[in-house]
Amino acid sequence: MSLLELDDVSVTYRIAAGEVPAVRGVSLTLDSGAALGVAGESGSGKSTLAMALLRLLPRDARVGGRILLDGEDLLTMKWGRLRAVRWAEASIVFQGAQHGLNPVRRIGDQVAEPLLVHGQAKPDAARKRVHELLEQVGLPTWRARSYPHELSGGQRQRVMIAMALACSPRLIIADEPTTALDVMVQAQVLTLIKELVAEQNISLIMISHDLSVLADVCDQLAVMYAGRVVEHGPSGDVFHEARHPYSRALAAAFPTVGDPASRMAPKGLGGDPPDPMNLPGGCSFHPRCPVALDECATLDVDLWPAGERRSAACVHVRAKEEAS
Ligand SMILES: Nc1ncnc2c1ncn2[C@@H]1O[C@H](COP(=O)(O)OP(=O)(O)OP(=O)(O)O)[C@@H](O)[C@H]1O
Ligand code: SF4
Ligand SMILES: [Mg+2]
Repeated sequence: MSLLELDDVSVTYRIAAGEVPAVRGVSLTLDSGAALGVAGESGSGKSTLAMALLRLLPRDARVGGRILLDGEDLLTMKWGRLRAVRWAEASIVFQGAQHGLNPVRRIGDQVAEPLLVHGQAKPDAARKRVHELLEQVGLPTWRARSYPHELSGGQRQRVMIAMALACSPRLIIADEPTTALDVMVQAQVLTLIKELVAEQNISLIMISHDLSVLADVCDQLAVMYAGRVVEHGPSGDVFHEARHPYSRALAAAFPTVGDPASRMAPKGLGGDPPDPMNLPGGCSFHPRCPVALDECATLDVDLWPAGERRSAACVHVRAKEEAS
């Protein structure tokens, strides 16, 4: 059985101006110890999906579908059980989270907090575990006495990873864990994440706009566009031989790990991502697609098998697979 199974997950924000369908019918699975990368431009629904997984969305968000963790549906789970699952079984490193550390509390106290809150350790044992965690993320133990402003951005992000690891979760969701860091530090933090998940057999969902970063760390990739998964498969295949024109453009935009300049405007991709409140009919990508056909303006193609353990949502893929 998969550790995590997403079945037709959708998220719609209700705001004064109307409804924002931010995630639309996402189905994915993650095996124990595996790493799944979720890619897509700004606004494609990556963080919304991550927050839906642990029911961290605001009240105005309506979530549909099923999210099974070890067979238990997180969406219908009672609050008490959900609290236990958060941190202890699945934890999340938020986008830009290093800025979210409490500026007036020492690092050690903040890393110890999940252990104490979830009753996993008494204060003495928690202090020992904090030292162990700091060492695991490559920080000297004396850093426990530091305040966040005494650390660099990369060091603060290491602290966030230590917090996510604190209760030995089986799943870590890392939302753009390295985006705010410079390229050298980004590479160090990525290597750290890769090593930790491999050593501790933790499953990982890593989110990034940068396909090259994900291909480096993850076994599987899912590419999102306008709230949907448009391509899914083994990361090497998706990165080097994408079947969907959008994934091809993303892969070309990020040829090497860590190019922050490409974030908002991937090279070779004209136009902007669509406004979710005003999605184009047919294939949502058709106004920007270099190989669009007339029918793409009206025909909405679902994910279609596209090779071994691969799928892609494009008429060209469907035509080729039907012909073979
Ligand atoms: N609280 C909210 N209320 C209404 N709309 C929201 C809310 N949060 C996100 N959205 C909208 O949902 C869509 C998806 O946003 P999301 O933050 O999930 O994208 P993302 O892929 O994580 O982007 P980025 O790469 O910039 O982090 C966007 O159109 C965004 O404007
Ligand atoms: S379905 Fe059409 S518009 Fe959409 S990606 Fe394929 S060719 Fe492009
Ligand atoms: Mg985001």
